[in-house]
Amino acid sequence: MTTANPRRSTHPHVAVVGATGAVGVEFLQVLEQRNFPLSSIRLLASPRSAGKTMKFRGQDLTVEALTDKSFDGIDIALFSAGGSISKQYGPLAVAAGAIVVDNSSAFRMTAEVPLVVPEVNPEHIGNIGLKPGQKAGIIANPNCSTILMVTAMTALHRAAGIKRLVISTYQAASGAGAQAMEELRQQTQDVLDGKEAKPVIFKQQYAFNLFSHNAPIMGNGYNEEEMKMVKETHKIWGQDSLPEAARTQITATCIRVPIMRAHAESVNATFEKPMTEEAAKALLAKAPGVSIIDDREANRFPMPLDAQHQDDIYVGRIRRDISQPEGKGIDLFLCGDQIRKGAALNAVQIAELLLAK
Ligand code: A2P
Repeated sequence: MTTANPRRSTHPHVAVVGATGAVGVEFLQVLEQRNFPLSSIRLLASPRSAGKTMKFRGQDLTVEALTDKSFDGIDIALFSAGGSISKQYGPLAVAAGAIVVDNSSAFRMTAEVPLVVPEVNPEHIGNIGLKPGQKAGIIANPNCSTILMVTAMTALHRAAGIKRLVISTYQAASGAGAQAMEELRQQTQDVLDGKEAKPVIFKQQYAFNLFSHNAPIMGNGYNEEEMKMVKETHKIWGQDSLPEAARTQITATCIRVPIMRAHAESVNATFEKPMTEEAAKALLAKAPGVSIIDDREANRFPMPLDAQHQDDIYVGRIRRDISQPEGKGIDLFLCGDQIRKGAALNAVQIAELLLAK
């Protein structure tokens, strides 16, 4: 998974795999908005999209069908076309000399692949980089629910050690891709028009409903999304090599809700040391990538609509958990844009780290 091919350490050539998808479109917007210094950009998707044009920095760029040759001359490849495409083409991109930032789950738990949230564990990137002497390789973007949670909770974890996390998620359509977003829109319109809602991507009616996350249920009764939150958090927090009992104990229930593109999460934390409401608020106020909306008088707290199209994770309902003795429990609620910080923004931030190295 490494190569010695030379790469450009400034103004890299960039490829976007899955450019036409929900995350792919956002990659282009985030690269443009953040003025990412690139020399060229290659848009790749399935043969169905070949020849389509997409706008980038005011120019019409033509989408190409992804092939084995797509990565010749590419320095950084941003992947978001699903796990099987990443498994097939990610190693080919690395062999061609590129650094892959992969949004799928294909390599997240592979030991030598760093799993990175730039605000939390940039050092895990190690020697993967664009400069001479640094290596090509795959860097994995964590699961969206995991990214949102660790971006908010790491400051608290570092201050007082989180022993246990109980998480409930309220996840938007976007996590299942552009077609799922369209399914929510179409079903909502159909139901309002008095027609029957037709499930296609999801098995259940989505409009005016919610259901357990569509990820497959595993032998232990958890679904894969829930177990991603457990395992990925351990890896990001550097706990994967610790004995089970020494890790943060994490349990999650992941639910799909009829919201377009921002996830919400209820998080209950138990700390090693006491954590007051005031201390938690002060830590969150300083945490990079986090904003607080917590107005008890106005009963105004984070909502998915606050978070959509925004970079930050919005945190509120910050309160002492009255069920836990000794002031060692905190409850909070957070919202974050699933496509942005949960996917495209986090990946572009990783690419920015590569340029800064
Ligand atoms: P296409 O639009 O041509 O199908 P989403 O997660 O929003 O559903 O997006 C999935 C992305 O992955 C799209 O850009 C889609 O391209 C792309 N994709 C799907 N299958 C392939 C494939 N076989 N080769 C390359 N890209 C693919």
